Amino acid sequence: MSASKLVKPNAAYKQSYLEALDEFHAEGRYKSLSRSEIEKNFDKYVEELNTGKRYLRRPFVDWVEPVPETVLWLVKKDEYIGSITIRHRLNWHLEKWGGHVNFTIRPSMRKKGFGKKILQKGMPYICYLGIDRALVLVDPLNIAGQRVVEFCGGEFQDETQKTDRFPARKRYWLQCG
Ligand SMILES: CC(C)(COP(=O)(O)OP(=O)(O)OC[C@H]1O[C@@H](n2cnc3c(N)ncnc32)[C@H](O)[C@@H]1OP(=O)(O)O)[C@@H](O)C(=O)NCCC(=O)NCCS
Repeated sequence: MSASKLVKPNAAYKQSYLEALDEFHAEGRYKSLSRSEIEKNFDKYVEELNTGKRYLRRPFVDWVEPVPETVLWLVKKDEYIGSITIRHRLNWHLEKWGGHVNFTIRPSMRKKGFGKKILQKGMPYICYLGIDRALVLVDPLNIAGQRVVEFCGGEFQDETQKTDRFPARKRYWLQCG
């Protein structure tokens, strides 16, 4: 049986990535990513992810300043399963919403252990990027997300309250070294 692995975004996974994007859209996620645009310009999209240019187009009004990020895809048997995004540092916005690390598994592949896998496999990359401790923010209602972070050694700090701009979040720290 082939193992799952983290790879740089790659046009070889185009078909399954687009199918996954349909699944994400169906659950209301990543609405700012246009499927037709991405399908038409997939090579460019992949290049932008790999050269760290996509973050410059973030739609967040509160973003304040761009932060470089590394995006990796979890794949298995030539199929896209999920993404992990590692921000190289925090900014004002990311401290409250986003954190250093974000991971997502496509809906049809959830509850099979891939959530744990993607963060577990992402840890060496987080540390390699020189992040001594990585902030992960999880919705208090998101039990699966919390279990994944705890499985990977995340230390719970506290729970932030909802504000006008930001939702409530549980704050965890992942330690390197
Ligand atoms: C969070 C997420 C990545 C988990 O992915 P997954 O592939 O289902 O995770 P796993 O299969 O590794 O399951 C991890 C644990 O969560 C549990 N779990 C999974 N889905 C669950 C759910 N809907 N409700 C409660 N527990 C759940 C699993 O049983 C497992 O528990 P265990 O520790 O007892 O074994 C996935 O739900 C997702 O992509 N959600 C949207 C994005 C997100 O919330 N990201 C996390 C914040 S950055």
